[in-house]
Amino acid sequence: MSEMVHVGSGKVRELYALDAERMLLVASDRISVFDVVLPTAIPDKGRVLTGLAAFWFTRTRNICANHLLAIRKDGRSTECRKLEMLSIECVVRGYLAGSGWKDYQASGEVCGHRLPAGLRESDRLPQPIFTPATKATSGHDENITTAQAARLVGEKTFAEAQRLSIALYQFAADYARGRGIIIADTKFEFGVDREGRLVLGDEALTPDSSRFWPADEYAPGRPQPSYDKQFVRDFCERTDWNKTYPGPELPADVVAGTRARYIEAFEKLTGISFDQYLADPAVVL
Ligand SMILES: Nc1ncnc2c1ncn2[C@@H]1O[C@H](COP(=O)(O)OP(=O)(O)O)[C@@H](O)[C@H]1O
Ligand SMILES: [Mg+2]
Repeated sequence: MSEMVHVGSGKVRELYALDAERMLLVASDRISVFDVVLPTAIPDKGRVLTGLAAFWFTRTRNICANHLLAIRKDGRSTECRKLEMLSIECVVRGYLAGSGWKDYQASGEVCGHRLPAGLRESDRLPQPIFTPATKATSGHDENITTAQAARLVGEKTFAEAQRLSIALYQFAADYARGRGIIIADTKFEFGVDREGRLVLGDEALTPDSSRFWPADEYAPGRPQPSYDKQFVRDFCERTDWNKTYPGPELPADVVAGTRARYIEAFEKLTGISFDQYLADPAVVL
């Protein structure tokens, strides 16, 4: 389409402007580990992310307005409302993992949230906590305090983003738990529309924006296997890669195993076969 203007590239998505109010987000099959995009793609990964995000957008409309307008026949292109994105990432954690676990060990707190003593790695938190981060233009996002986040976006917007993020997480975590997947934590991106309303944008509740754990293997006191990226992480650990650019090429069995896990996550969560999605992406709506 000639009227489409390419306006940017993220790690995973290509962004196009459709007109003054609408954008097209095209999810590629690129995969990043430790924030480095690898030279090898995972076939259909972009379709899984697109379908899953659209599935959640459709089911969370009553909690929070979102940017979704339509998904295209290719299964990887999302037509959405153009938003003025907030400069913070809205992270919700329901379990103690990653940087949260590190901070807790050092201080008994995660981003200013005082937690009970004696929690183990991967333990479920008494209640989900909101731990905003800055959007790093390159490299790792940085955790910030509630006060810093409120300064960046304004007190009122901050409070609203926090309330919506926790509500969205709680809904999705309950839903996923019933389907054998623990959503340990997740990241939302909100933007403001032309009327000044806070709207959920980007992707949401996908394996790329969340930590998905297989519920049947869950055992606190250690790190949990990642639902989607475990094969890639294990492979990377076996090489002598130093986790900076450029990353290693992935062998065929790692690609196939990873693709299968992404599709499995899609099918478990949506209850829809991925072939059905490929035939008609609108089945998730
Ligand atoms: N509705 C929207 N309006 C404007 N920008 C958006 C919208 N939804 C998502 N974006 C932006 O599009 C980009 C998505 O590309 P992605 O590859 O996911 O980027 P990243 O490398 O930051 O994860 C992000 O910068 C995100 O903030
Ligand atoms: Mg992204």
